Amino acid sequence: MTTNNTGNKASVSKWLLFLVVTIAVIAGLRSMLVTKHEAAAAPQDAATARAVEDRIKPVGEVSIALAPPRAAPAPAVAAVVPAESGAAAPASPASETARPAAPATVATAAPAASKAGESTYHSLCTGCHSIGAMGAPRFGDKAAWAPRIAQGMDALYRSALHGKNAMPAKGGNPSLPDADVKAAVDYMVAAAK
Ligand code: HEC
Repeated sequence: MTTNNTGNKASVSKWLLFLVVTIAVIAGLRSMLVTKHEAAAAPQDAATARAVEDRIKPVGEVSIALAPPRAAPAPAVAAVVPAESGAAAPASPASETARPAAPATVATAAPAASKAGESTYHSLCTGCHSIGAMGAPRFGDKAAWAPRIAQGMDALYRSALHGKNAMPAKGGNPSLPDADVKAAVDYMVAAAK
């Protein structure tokens, strides 16, 4: 009985030890696998992640700052490094790409004034002026426009508003507001200067 009991106790503690070791090994493997899986998934979402990072740069930097503590477990380090290097690449130029953002908004604000001219040109005037139909001065053709620009803007406005030879008044659309016609002239002249 007594010997049996100790024998049982010994085998039970052996089993417990075995179980603990097994669980520890499984837990270790799992954490490795999970980290590897995360690392493998990273390239897949790299494009999305980069796009998001571009948009939320300050947040992206914060999340990278938090990454190293997660890499603390020994087996995770190797797997986390590639994931981090991928994320660090787009994050490091964050400060550089943040700067062009400001000029970009300034640049789009400037041509806003000629928006009416641009859209009028593209909806109407381009029909003749893009290809130079009927001898129309071509859009952006500096040589063709130079002598016309030399007449002064008022003369150009007058030709555009009231017509000149094959150039129809208001480009052939009498309902076009004068301001839009003039804006289109401005747009064409600006492109040919
Ligand atoms: C049906 C074709 C046609 C369309 C559409 C057209 N043009 Fe013209 N445009 C011409 C031709 C041809 C000339 C050259 C006229 C000439 O000097 O004999 C010309 C010349 C001009 C000139 C120079 C006039 C000058 O005094 O030298 C301006 C400015 C101009 N067009 C503006 C416009 C604008 C703005 C539009 C759109 C609203 C427009 N054109 C649409 C054919 C066209």
